[in-house]
Amino acid sequence: MDDPVSEYTARLLQQEKEIKLLSAEIERLKDPQSLDFSSTGLDELREENIRLKYRLNILKKSLQEERSSNSKSMTNINQRLQEIFGDAISVAYPDLEDPPLAVTPNQQAKFGDYQCNSAMAMAQMMKSKGQKVNPREIAEKIVQNIPDNELIEKTDIAGPGFINVHLKKTFVSKLLTNMLMNGVQPPTLDKKKRVIVDFSSPNIAKEMHVGHLRSTIIGDSMCRLFEFLGHDVLRLNHVGDWGTQFGIISPPISDLQAFYKESKKRFDDDEEFKKRAYQCVVRLQSKEPDFIKAWNLICDVSRKEFQRVYDCLGIQIIERGESYYQDRMTAVVKEFEEKGLVELDEGRKIVFTPGQSIPLTVVKSDGGYTYDTSDLAALRQRLFEEKADIIIYVTDSGQAMHFHVVFAAAQHIGWYDPKVTRVEHAGFGVVLGEDKLMDLLEEGLKRSMDKLKEKERDKVLTPEELALAQHAVAFGCIKYADLCHNRINDYVFSFDKMLDDRGNTAAYLLYAFTRIRSIARLANIQEAALRKAAETCEIVLEHEKEWKLGKCILRFPEILQKILDDLLLHTLCDYLYELATTFTEFYDSCYCVEKDRQTGEVVKVNMWRMLLCEATAAVMAKGFDILGLKPVQRM
Ligand code: ARG
Repeated sequence: MDDPVSEYTARLLQQEKEIKLLSAEIERLKDPQSLDFSSTGLDELREENIRLKYRLNILKKSLQEERSSNSKSMTNINQRLQEIFGDAISVAYPDLEDPPLAVTPNQQAKFGDYQCNSAMAMAQMMKSKGQKVNPREIAEKIVQNIPDNELIEKTDIAGPGFINVHLKKTFVSKLLTNMLMNGVQPPTLDKKKRVIVDFSSPNIAKEMHVGHLRSTIIGDSMCRLFEFLGHDVLRLNHVGDWGTQFGIISPPISDLQAFYKESKKRFDDDEEFKKRAYQCVVRLQSKEPDFIKAWNLICDVSRKEFQRVYDCLGIQIIERGESYYQDRMTAVVKEFEEKGLVELDEGRKIVFTPGQSIPLTVVKSDGGYTYDTSDLAALRQRLFEEKADIIIYVTDSGQAMHFHVVFAAAQHIGWYDPKVTRVEHAGFGVVLGEDKLMDLLEEGLKRSMDKLKEKERDKVLTPEELALAQHAVAFGCIKYADLCHNRINDYVFSFDKMLDDRGNTAAYLLYAFTRIRSIARLANIQEAALRKAAETCEIVLEHEKEWKLGKCILRFPEILQKILDDLLLHTLCDYLYELATTFTEFYDSCYCVEKDRQTGEVVKVNMWRMLLCEATAAVMAKGFDILGLKPVQRM
């Protein structure tokens, strides 16, 4: 076998096999029933166990080193440290079940770069079992068992038992170089997953409001994150196209919303009209040709309206509304009936799930289906036909109960196991202070142009550049305002705040980014020269601010991992803001380019610092990409 790649692969596979065997052996030794006390002493087994774990660690380390030297993906430093401390803890305290593992980056550099806080929690755990151990002693024992690794320079123990970790400069520098040479690549993927994000989802004939805008922005960003990580993402627009509103209106209509509003009034006041409307919905849902024709006309009008918004924001999404599931709704009701889960209640068919106080209504007394029915059918379709591993619904928190009950019913009937499939409602708070969506987008454009003119950018930029900047700023700011607030909370919409170029706003970040990109341009350094430098020039991290910036850049993968777990995108905004301010600190105290005071001529270029600028810009660009912001070269 002289092909190095296949040789390497074979070795990796062999090592992975060995690790599996060893892990199984360790598991076996943990199980008391497998122990034969008559022939083997407990102490001997313990020693055997420790030896095996030691061997396992050596294998893990070499596997890790092989991986990182051969792969282009970015290393998640936090995760690596967790693995290392996890191993140390399991060797030091083999009997402790599920020891708490906590590694966090250190805010204050003087305490080291990362911190492991497990010792205190472990002391608590032991105390509850009647063992009194000083957390500092635990910390010491953990430190003594840290396996040989590629990234820790040294550790020290502080206070009641904090373990401070100091990273190797050479390690950080090498990761930065790798990143510059390979680009900002996602961390290695264990398994490619099928992900469905149900977002935006306005209702036909009704107005698309700021709540839908928020869902559109947050949902799009979630999709971008999953896509960047290498998953297979289906972006679904679950439009409301099958409900009561169709019974209320009839085409041809140009101003659909005004017409709907008026008809809705009549619907509320006039009992006869209301009855007729409901009957129309049932006739639509049974697909009577005339009704389908009218329905199509109405949908088209709305679709055009929605598309204007998606075009402004650059959103890609596939429309698959409630109507898509009509036949499946019939089947779902049947399935619940056959399993004996349906009850009759004053002519309605309802489903009670054990533990849930609210039932789902699957068929109304007039025979029509409901929002519950369509969501059950959609969930079933996504699980069984799309074979989704992850399904996320992005709507306002007002719908939390609805999804909660739908998910519970689906689990009860046996469609999925939450331990295997992740089905989640990502709710968000309301946007206060704005409700006219199209006006909002237009107002944003106007204000962003005012701002650019106020800064006299119209005098320096070409008309094309100015228009690009105007759009990037306007829509970037609107998106960022949504994303940078914790989605759980309500927030107050304010153009003044979001267009402010100080503080944590898109305007600030976009300016900061353009400025960083211009550093090389102003020093007349060509892209090719920078690429060459990345290969040959070591990134020195001697200055305190260089070190701080280098570490901050490399936190990107751990930020993404966190968002993957909790789906809170504001963490990425906070991180990008921190990166931008950390960069400013660096730039203020470290010369990248030295110029002659008199002539302004470049006399010296500190290339490794130019590389730090490049690395910062690369991560920022990737972050913008995930948030759906478009950076501009000049602004
Ligand atoms: N059309 C709904 C609304 O405007 C949102 C739909 C969300 N998705 C879902 N599968 N229910 O409130």
